[in-house]
Amino acid sequence: MSASIEVQDHIAIIYLNNPPVNGLGHATRSEISSHLRTVEFDSNIHAVILTGVGKAFSGGADIKEFGTDKTFAEPSLPNLLEQLDTYKKPIIAAINGVCMGGGLELALACHYRVATQGALIALPEVKLGILPGAGGTQRLPRLLNMDTCVDMIVNGHPLPSSELAQTGLFDLYIEHPDQLLREAINFAIVASTTRPVPRVRDRSVIGLTNPLLFSEYRTKLQKSSRFFPAPFTCLDVLEAALKQTFEEGLKTERAAFQTLLSSPESKALRHIFMAERAASKIAGVDSTETVRAIAAVAVVGAGTMGTGIAMCFANANIPVQVLDSKISSLENGLNRIRETYLASFKKGKLSQLECEHRIGLIQGVQDYTAISEADLVIEAVFEEMPIKREVFEHLDRYVKSGAILASNTSTLDLNQIASFTKRPHDVVGLHFFSPANRMELLEVVRGQQTSTEVLASCAAIAKRIRKIAIIAGVCDGFIGNRMLEQYTKQAAFLLEEGCTPQQVDQAMEAFGFAMGPFRMNDLAGNDISWAIRKRRLAANPQLIYSKLGDILCEQGRFGQKSRAGWYDYHEGDRTAYPSIIVEEIIRQHANALGIPQRQIGAEEIVQRLVLALANEGRKILLDKIAARSSDIDLVYLKGYGFPAYRGGPMFYAEQMTWDQVDRLIRQFQTGHRGNTWTI
Ligand code: 3HC
Ligand code: NAI
Repeated sequence: MSASIEVQDHIAIIYLNNPPVNGLGHATRSEISSHLRTVEFDSNIHAVILTGVGKAFSGGADIKEFGTDKTFAEPSLPNLLEQLDTYKKPIIAAINGVCMGGGLELALACHYRVATQGALIALPEVKLGILPGAGGTQRLPRLLNMDTCVDMIVNGHPLPSSELAQTGLFDLYIEHPDQLLREAINFAIVASTTRPVPRVRDRSVIGLTNPLLFSEYRTKLQKSSRFFPAPFTCLDVLEAALKQTFEEGLKTERAAFQTLLSSPESKALRHIFMAERAASKIAGVDSTETVRAIAAVAVVGAGTMGTGIAMCFANANIPVQVLDSKISSLENGLNRIRETYLASFKKGKLSQLECEHRIGLIQGVQDYTAISEADLVIEAVFEEMPIKREVFEHLDRYVKSGAILASNTSTLDLNQIASFTKRPHDVVGLHFFSPANRMELLEVVRGQQTSTEVLASCAAIAKRIRKIAIIAGVCDGFIGNRMLEQYTKQAAFLLEEGCTPQQVDQAMEAFGFAMGPFRMNDLAGNDISWAIRKRRLAANPQLIYSKLGDILCEQGRFGQKSRAGWYDYHEGDRTAYPSIIVEEIIRQHANALGIPQRQIGAEEIVQRLVLALANEGRKILLDKIAARSSDIDLVYLKGYGFPAYRGGPMFYAEQMTWDQVDRLIRQFQTGHRGNTWTI
């Protein structure tokens, strides 16, 4: 039963009971509707309370039912709310926790709302590429001013009930959650004497305080939401609410909801929502798994990554020691940390107190005995196996038993690293992305012997430092960098076949990437990928790839840092200027190889690069390096700037169908240098 009923003091209490968040799926809607019918004409019942069991009043429409015939099956959510609107007795929403989307719309259609401290109020539909589709855009502006409604509906951010306590949204606000039901019953007893029952729909929309609100928002959205229709539609529908009657407004809202629900952007965002939840499920790890307490962390290596990683923990209020073998590197690292925090303070993002607190949580050390009590140690030293060996042998010797020993290696064999210790079950890869203190992605690399307890603990600590943890198996490049290799390989082949770096970058940026592959390489430093290619070539002399990147590096064109890469750069200016020198290098190289030149359109550029990612992703799944296709999407979305409105490379391929992907890959193989693709 997903909704139950009981009676106290002549008040019927309908409990929404559809774990985990009392989603308003078809069964729950049917049961609420049926309970309402049962008591409507029962003279023993004077009023009705709707409330939730557990941590939620309701998390809204059941997202899992979207796209199935249950979405609009009767009673649909709008029709259930219509039933509330025409109800003869007062209905009171007792808002006990998460009250979001359709859940808030249900509460808005009640005649009264009693809320408790700790409840979370939101219309977050926009984050799923839709808008509130059950009257939220029409009822909310009749209880809250339009400025607040626009903020809530266009951004989708949740507000704690305490912030709304003094507004017209609630008829009563209760400080103590455990008194909510009693107070709601008392409220209902009084309300049951008042007729007719008040309806939000009969009120007028509260006007604008800022007449420029809508135009200012539209300008902001042009920048932040270029690829997303939903925020713009939310604004249109809210603006219409100012001019239309409630009934007209509902029709406008419903039509917009239907259009957005079937948009590719919404499908992509819903896929991401589900992907994020699925990623937390780790094979072999269940909810009873022991999670180790992590109260103190140490990072070995105070370079680019080590310092960023240290800040991740300080930002989560976890003390962290940073160890480096070289005193000057340690000092530089600690200075960089200080500068980063001070910059945040100067920009107003951190208070002085918080800035000092975080700096104070990070301590520099040079001796392994100093980190012996750490619960988690993350190694981020040079990417060379002998150095990793030395570090892990030290960790094994000095760090207490039960500690998790992690490596941030991007390419080296984690199983070999684990073998340098007598506790390989405690060794795991924690592959952060640069800048580590900002990037959301964390690849958790599961070695052959990594214990499930260590994996569960890493997933828990990832949550604390606000990272999305994706479990990856051991292989060169894990998930993300293994796919990146195929992507950059195709990008360079495109140059050999007639494209310029700017053509490729522009096509990928129009597709939605913040940066195309060549601008990205110039930013990251071409020498880094050059070193990786050299290592891979030494391991596999048959490796086929374009030598263009090597030629550029041989000429010192490392990217922004040398003011020359795939583009030219001017002193103190990060703008990428097309380079005549690079175009000449490409032309000569293609001539020497005898590759026919042709015009290549943006569509082919995008398909070759994105399908290179998806094709490698498919092999990663077959090799069991990733557990599920949606994990691969998250890696690319959170770590490599894949545009969210496209849902990820695997989602893109799945929408296209894998048959079509294979057809295109075969087509790309004929007459192209990129014929090294294997399906
Ligand atoms: N429908 C179905 N399942 C939902 C759900 C929903 N609306 N919201 C959350 N869930 C499920 C998750 O899929 C997850 O399931 P799993 O355990 O099987 O993986 C479980 O609830 C727990 O979710 P979280 O891990 O996110 O739990 P948190 O406690 O961290 O957060 C939450 C809870 C704040 C409710 C968060 O899940 C959330 O933001 N949910 C989305 C809310 C939302 O967008 N509602 C609007 C829906 S669209 C709508 O209502 C349309 C209407 O206007 C017509
Ligand atoms: P870095 O060169 O910036 O820093 C390495 C630091 O390790 C230096 O400060 C050095 O003094 C210190 N070090 C070297 N040997 C040591 C030892 N034996 N004991 C203690 N400290 C020692 O390197 P970076 O870029 O931070 O990379 C570190 C690791 O992170 C590498 O494994 C790299 O592959 C990986 N990584 C790098 C990413 C990047 O974008 N730079 C991204 C993800 C992973």
